[in-house]
Amino acid sequence: MQDMQEMQTAQTNRKRVFSGIQPTGMIHIGNYAGAIKNWVASQDQQDNIFCLVNLHAHTVRQDPDELRAKTREVAGILLAAGIDPDKSALFAQSDVAAHCELAWLLNCVASMGQLERMTQYKEKSQKLKEQSSVGLFTYPLLMAADILLYQTDRVPVGADQKQHVELTRDLAQRFNSTFGETFVMPEPVIPPLGARIMGLDDPLKKMSKSSTSFGHAIGVLDPPEVITKKIKSAKTDSGSEIRFDEGRPGLLNLLTIYQVLSGLGREAIEQQFDGKGYGHLKLALADMLIEVLRPLQSRYQELARDPHRIDSVLKKGAERVTPIAQKTMALVKERMGLSLA
Ligand code: AQP
Repeated sequence: MQDMQEMQTAQTNRKRVFSGIQPTGMIHIGNYAGAIKNWVASQDQQDNIFCLVNLHAHTVRQDPDELRAKTREVAGILLAAGIDPDKSALFAQSDVAAHCELAWLLNCVASMGQLERMTQYKEKSQKLKEQSSVGLFTYPLLMAADILLYQTDRVPVGADQKQHVELTRDLAQRFNSTFGETFVMPEPVIPPLGARIMGLDDPLKKMSKSSTSFGHAIGVLDPPEVITKKIKSAKTDSGSEIRFDEGRPGLLNLLTIYQVLSGLGREAIEQQFDGKGYGHLKLALADMLIEVLRPLQSRYQELARDPHRIDSVLKKGAERVTPIAQKTMALVKERMGLSLA
């Protein structure tokens, strides 16, 4: 099998793209619509590296057995969704030690002020306050290491992660101007549609996989009756006309999900539901979700019966990306005076 470096040399116009997903919580339709669906569709146009960022998961307390199980589950979901390990690398972050090595060096390049400006840290540390881990604070540096390690051209992210990619660019620039040209400058890519699917129970909050509220998110593995129940109870206003309207965030969120999954334009959707009520839209959306997720769920059930197959994909994925990581680290060490050669 070709490693990623050979693949990129053979097709020099193909961009290298790094995408990460935390193997925690419940993978939901926000993850699917904003990330996974696009990842699958992009596999023939670019060299994708898909990473299960299990080291990021430890920024909050994790049960080891659960994390192991979730890592296999998320790998299984990605494969079932259509990630093809012959086309793209899929691996667990902890299987490539260079992520931590580079993250430490970036700890020494970044300033406290840069990290203190990260809005996600401010939000996530609010609950735990002084008890929140140092890793939660320095998490953007591990993410920067994930990206820079593979000399990544593009990083597809949801709207909330854009600030972290901008920090990565600042760090790459600082490193390159201090130690000499080393890192490719990565570009954030925000999907034009579905970059921020909102919670069904609160359309002003991003759909999040760490939420424990039943009606908040639809899991990609949710059975049909649960999908219908959750969509039916999704929060909307008391209006009736179906329009893409910023002033009606609950309705807008349902319509956006419908738009991403159907591939239809806004006008066509408004026409389809002209004169019909919210209840009709909810049922149509639930049916569409059930149909879209059905093949993913049946492939997943099959894969879940064979965890060794999933482990083997992850192992091969790590072997495939390791030479790129090693090459970057050799250059970084040479630039920073850490290698004596
Ligand atoms: N609500 C969302 N809408 C669109 N895209 C989303 N993504 C996450 N939530 C939404 C995108 O999914 C990919 C993987 O996400 P992640 O696991 O790395 O991180 P996350 O953004 O932290 O996911 P959550 O659901 O918000 O998890 P918690 O609650 O643990 O923080 C990314 O491309 C992400 O942008």
